[in-house]
Amino acid sequence: MDYLQIQGVQSLKGTIKISGAKNASLPLIAMTILAKNRVTIKNLPHVVDINTLLKLLSNLGAECHFQEDAIEVDTTTLSQTKATYDIVKTMRASILVLGPILARFGHCEVSLPGGCAIGQRPINLHLKALEQMGAKIDIRSGYIEATAPNGLHGCEIIFDKITVTGTANIVMAAALAKGTTTIINAAREPEVVQLCEILNKSGVCIEGIGTAVLHITGTDGELLAIEEFSVIPDRIEAGTYLCAGAITNSELTLTDVNAAHLGSVIAKLEEMGCSFSITEDSITIHPASELQPVSIITQEYPAFPTDMQAQFLALATQANGVSIIEERLFENRFMHVSELQRMGADISLNGNVATVKGKTKLGGTDVMATDLRASSALVLAALVADGETDIHRIYHLDRGYDALEKKLEGVGANIIRLKE
Ligand code: EPZ
Repeated sequence: MDYLQIQGVQSLKGTIKISGAKNASLPLIAMTILAKNRVTIKNLPHVVDINTLLKLLSNLGAECHFQEDAIEVDTTTLSQTKATYDIVKTMRASILVLGPILARFGHCEVSLPGGCAIGQRPINLHLKALEQMGAKIDIRSGYIEATAPNGLHGCEIIFDKITVTGTANIVMAAALAKGTTTIINAAREPEVVQLCEILNKSGVCIEGIGTAVLHITGTDGELLAIEEFSVIPDRIEAGTYLCAGAITNSELTLTDVNAAHLGSVIAKLEEMGCSFSITEDSITIHPASELQPVSIITQEYPAFPTDMQAQFLALATQANGVSIIEERLFENRFMHVSELQRMGADISLNGNVATVKGKTKLGGTDVMATDLRASSALVLAALVADGETDIHRIYHLDRGYDALEKKLEGVGANIIRLKE
């Protein structure tokens, strides 16, 4: 297995190009199941999760043609409707094929995603909504067996909790349904907005895009003509590199980024003493000479994202004072804490609240990545730790960060990928 070796203490300088958003790419790839034509997608990030979903589509009979800076997905050859355990167990976002396959073929079998490191992550809201739309859902031998013999029909759906992939799944199911589906308490993440915008341009009438109430008028089974599009920038990758600038007291410029998607993250960094120069597609961070402590509560977009919690927890170890970080979305998203404590961080946990005392000098050592965003928190800590840090099990990192070590090396970090 690969591991990253990082020498601290570092200061960085230069420009990092942000890749396409993993969490936009996944529903957009699933969306191609609704298409009557070959769909060209530009700016897909080169990360493992994207390859996993493309493999899943290939297993179902689709064809994926890789081009210079794009991919062409042809689902006109789709012949299977079963997403098997071997793939789904490696990526729970595979559940995103459920809505589109059911809408297009009238039946679908998807392995239950099973457990996840950061929390239970049920999919009950996805299934309940599909049943309201006319689907019959059975759980048999670890598989979701969904059928809609009379097709899916529009209805009013109220999500008990805001669910990102749940909203995406139902939007895609509603796209081919008969009539209008209203989703109340819909997710408003930029990744969901882009999915709606592209469907809206492809013949599906969607009103309320970007708000918590969506009205989707389906095509009643008519497949969609989907034109070429480019995936929006990855706001979590961008936020991670902004934290790299803040934690190493370095000025960094990010390009191909949309600052409008990072409002709550930039606001927290400003509270900590950083300032920014922002243009239409770039952000330059001017670091604080002394970082101030911060209080953070993770919530749904546009509030502070849970996917940035681990990175800010690492950053808070370098702030002068006591920071309080509350995780409200997932019940087990503090696994990076014990690894940071091994590097010398002064963090105490009380339920879903972490109290971080700074500024603490961190020391390099062997640490283990436990999940995607925890991995990036350990990278940030290693950049400011005295000495050498080896980060093991970085297959977690490779799921969602495109060429992280190359991008950091490009701005002066001493970071290499080695084999165990
Ligand atoms: C998406 O996961 C993201 N993944 C996650 O990013 C992100 O952390 C999460 O949204 C929250 O922003 C993708 O988009 C591929 P949810 P998702 O459904 O959709 C509960 C990363 O690091 N819930 O919005 O699976 C659930 O338990 C990943 O890139 C139900 O109870 O998350 C959680 O507490 C990690 N029943 C809350 O809702 C359901 O049926 C939000 O989950 C669905 C969700």
